[in-house]
This record gives sequence, C-alpha cells and structure tokens, in this order.
Amino acid sequence: MADRLKGKAALVLGAGSVGEGIGNGRAIAALFAREGARVAGADVRLAAAQETARLIAGEGGKMLALEADVTKEVDLRRTVDATLKAFGRIDILVNNVGGSIPGDAEQITPEAWREQFEYNLHYVYHSTRLVAPLMAKQGGGAIVNISSIAGLRHLGNELAAYAASKAGLQHFSRVCAVRYAPQGVRVNTVIPGLMNTPLVAERLAKSQAGGDAEALIAKRNARTPAGRMGDAWDVAWAVVYLASDEAKFVTGAEIVVDGALTATIR
Ligand SMILES: NC(=O)c1ccc[n+]([C@@H]2O[C@H](COP(=O)([O-])OP(=O)(O)OC[C@H]3O[C@@H](n4cnc5c(N)ncnc54)[C@H](O)[C@@H]3O)[C@@H](O)[C@H]2O)c1
Repeated sequence: MADRLKGKAALVLGAGSVGEGIGNGRAIAALFAREGARVAGADVRLAAAQETARLIAGEGGKMLALEADVTKEVDLRRTVDATLKAFGRIDILVNNVGGSIPGDAEQITPEAWREQFEYNLHYVYHSTRLVAPLMAKQGGGAIVNISSIAGLRHLGNELAAYAASKAGLQHFSRVCAVRYAPQGVRVNTVIPGLMNTPLVAERLAKSQAGGDAEALIAKRNARTPAGRMGDAWDVAWAVVYLASDEAKFVTGAEIVVDGALTATIR
C-alpha cells in the first residue's frame, strides 16, 4: 500500500508529539508522507515538528516543519500561507491539536473552561474558515478533525470541559460537512479511545495517577476490551482513509478507533 495520497498537499496542525515517541500528529504526518502526500506540519514547539520531519526524512520523505500556536489566528494564517507558498494548494487539513484539563463543572475554573474550548474547538473554527474556502475554490478537499471518546461518553474520570469541547468539535464537523458538501470539501472526525501515546506518561500520569505511568497504562489496557490500548498508528490509518479519495463519498462521518470500548458498559 502506497501512494494513497499521491499528488495531495496536506497540512497537519499539531504534527509533533507531546513526548518522546509517536503521538497521533506525528503518526499522521508520517503516514501521509509514506502515502505520497506533500506534508506541512505545524506545532507550537518547532523542535517537535522538526523531530517529525527528521523521522520522515529517515524514511526518504519530506515534511515542511512550521512553528505555530494554533490558538492564535495570526499564526494559523501564517501557517496556511506558508503551506500555500510551498505547495500551491491544500487538499488535506488535519486538526490534531487538543488535550484535556481535568475537573467537573465545580472544579474547573472559568479560565480553564475557556482555555479548553480554545484548545479543542475554537481553533478548528478558525482553521476551517481559512482553509475550507480555499479547498472549495480548488474543487474539493478533506478536513479531518481529531476528537476523543470523551466527547461521546463519560469516561469514569471528570473531564467536563474536554468532553463538552470534543462533543462540540464532532458536531461542528457534521454541520461543516453539510455546508461544504456541494463544493466537494469533506469534513470527518476520527474519535480515538484510550491510546498508548506519549501523552499517557507525559501528561495523564500526572493528572490521573499521581505520576505512576505504569499503573495508568495497566488500567487503560484493562479497560479496553482487547486487553490493550491502541496506538497512534491506529488513529493515523483512519485519518489516511478519510483524507484519501477512497473516502470520496464519506463526509459528516466519524470513525471511532477505540477497540470497542464505547460498545461496552465498563
Ligand atoms: N493520546 C490519546 O490517548 C488520545 C485519546 C483521545 C483523543 N486524543 C486526541 O488526539 C489529539 C492529539 O494526540 P496526542 O495526544 O497523541 O498528542 P500528539 O502527540 O499528537 O501531540 C500533539 C502536538 O500538538 C502540539 N501542540 C500543543 N498545543 C499546540 C498549539 N497551541 N498549537 C500548535 N501545536 C500545539 C504539541 O506540541 C504536540 O506536539 C488531541 O486532539 C487529543 O485530544 C488523544
């Protein structure tokens, strides 16, 4: 399997990784390059995007590494302009940046609540309104948003703002899919479950397990019906499909990549 994205120009927002190893954004950028796309990858930490570019270069590919804080509209504009300058078009946009601040409605501060919506939803509104019209003018394109099963279900730990903002992201994707369908711009969502990415040890172990990454990994494995979490590549393959012409009639859809976790009552 190769060349599924040949001739396409892609922009991945959040193309680094939160820690050492392969997170969702890095895996998405790497698979895009393997499948023949020209890839630009933006990250608030340029070094993280550059590490992804190095990984891709090691496989004989190329990624344009860009620095951007996606929550700043001016950075988004610069990123879109730089991608257009490099490739002349944008066929694929992936909104991968996102993350959680724990807390129920009483615990989470108003500032953190707002921040969560900036981080998980508002920037997607900005990137969509920048890129979808370009894609429409080009005759089509594919936007893939990365959500979370927290946007579908209560996961057993309090994540009120994350859950609400990801649920908003999922429905924003659907309404954009309807709006842009006549112009050939598809908008879909990938909904990861419990994944074993650097995020778990880097961030979640602190916020959910008192720093004990191994215990948290064991717990997340046990909760997943398969007995183990998925990984970033599982997420990235779903993104490749939705970004490719194989999915040319798939829009306003979600692919849940969770090893059947949301199909259970555990
Ligand atoms: N890892 C999981 O278990 C899991 C589960 C469900 C959903 N998700 C979702 O997957 C997405 C990210 O995946 P991940 O956790 O593997 O992380 P990741 O490894 O893909 O890293 C995301 C990247 O985004 C960058 N970033 C952070 N803030 C940014 C900003 N303001 N502007 C630009 N870049 C920024 C980080 O530096 C990092 O390199 C998120 O939307 C997250 O909610 C992850």
